[in-house]
Amino acid sequence: MKAWILAGAACAALGVASTAIAQDVITARREGMRAEGRQMEAIKAVIDARGDTRPIVERVDTITGFYRDLQALYPVGSGTGQTRALPAIWSDPAGFEAARTNIVGALAVLRSAAASGDVAATAAAFNQVGAGCAACHRGYRAAAR
Ligand code: HEC
Repeated sequence: MKAWILAGAACAALGVASTAIAQDVITARREGMRAEGRQMEAIKAVIDARGDTRPIVERVDTITGFYRDLQALYPVGSGTGQTRALPAIWSDPAGFEAARTNIVGALAVLRSAAASGDVAATAAAFNQVGAGCAACHRGYRAAAR
């Protein structure tokens, strides 16, 4: 009897702990997404000003690092709480992974364009990255609420 009570208490404590861990990972991915959004704005400012695109490479590398490791920020069980992540992330993992791979590929194109110093090519590649952000959000992020 006593063992059962202790086991129950341990399970309850574990439940609280895993909810806290899920919220940490949710906070990390949301902050990361916002940071990459700011990087994208900084890149856009250079393109709009028709500035030197070569320093953009470093920003692209930062963004790429985030999306390369994105899966780690979406563990099973992190779909509830302060999050707009849709259940499709876990029910359609192949689709989510394809959206992730797609943006990493688009970022590689942006990187070479920026490194070449060609503003028009950089602008075109930037738009493709933006389309990659939007495509994933359409399928895997809930509308703002
Ligand atoms: C592979 C899918 C995927 C890609 C690609 C993606 N996002 Fe997201 N993004 C999400 C999901 C899912 C959320 C919701 C996260 C949550 O609320 O837990 C999100 C949330 C966000 C948010 C809101 C963060 C907040 O404060 O809640 C911003 C801003 C954002 N993304 C920007 C971007 C930008 C910019 C890009 C492209 C450079 C991008 N995202 C690419 C899936 C993606």
